[in-house]
Amino acid sequence: MRTPLVIGNWKMHGLQADARALASAVREGFKRKVAVTIAVCPPFTALPAVAEVLAGSVIALGAQNCHPEPSGAHTGEISVPMLAELGCRYVLVGHSERRKEMGETDEQINRKVQAVLTHGLTPVLCVGETGDERRQGLTFTTIEGQLRAGLAGLGPEAVGKLVFAYEPVWAIGTGVNATPGQAAEVHGYLRGILSELSSKETAQATSILYGGSVKADNAESLLTEPEIDGALIGGASLKAPEFIAIVKKAVAAPAAAREGSR
Ligand code: 13P
Repeated sequence: MRTPLVIGNWKMHGLQADARALASAVREGFKRKVAVTIAVCPPFTALPAVAEVLAGSVIALGAQNCHPEPSGAHTGEISVPMLAELGCRYVLVGHSERRKEMGETDEQINRKVQAVLTHGLTPVLCVGETGDERRQGLTFTTIEGQLRAGLAGLGPEAVGKLVFAYEPVWAIGTGVNATPGQAAEVHGYLRGILSELSSKETAQATSILYGGSVKADNAESLLTEPEIDGALIGGASLKAPEFIAIVKKAVAAPAAAREGSR
């Protein structure tokens, strides 16, 4: 059984006071441990404040990006040891916004994945096709290319240490989520490749999250899909009640899925 994982990606939102308030409200929502792993990825500048608010809570901290080198002359960059020092457990790698806006290449993404693993944190490798690619029937070619390139040079054991996120670009911030069926099809395909790159057992134990317009009102249908192991949430993670509601759907998902299959 894979423990569901729900991650809030706050993107470039929030000054420190906003981040503190949001983190405090999320923390209030989960005073006790639940059967879901919860994490938030604030902007770099808010990481220390949010780390302080979340200390001793059940909510883990993540970062939205990193540089592949541990230190050096890389003006404006943040390394994985710097994130580890602040208590980050996860690092998002290869988000489509970075691929598009910063021109991040698969090769750079692969180096980041390796750096995150080297320092004992968990990379959340994001893959996803654009709307054009889907219309042209290139969904599987695109995500397979991103997955294999992102994992280049990693042995079977290392492959098992990642979390993956399928985020169709056309679903991010648009209000149009992939249907559970569309997501499940891609997740199954990704799991097949992971099985080849590691082992069937490892692939079965690996979390593949869905991201793209996940909201409280569509979370149940997505999260009860057996291939979907959790969610990577943008906009809806900026409102504590909405984020908390989504996590609660993830907590209830295994039982809801059993109900549905009766
Ligand atoms: P939205 O939930 O705002 O569509 O963003 C998804 C995303 O990009 C999470 O990384």
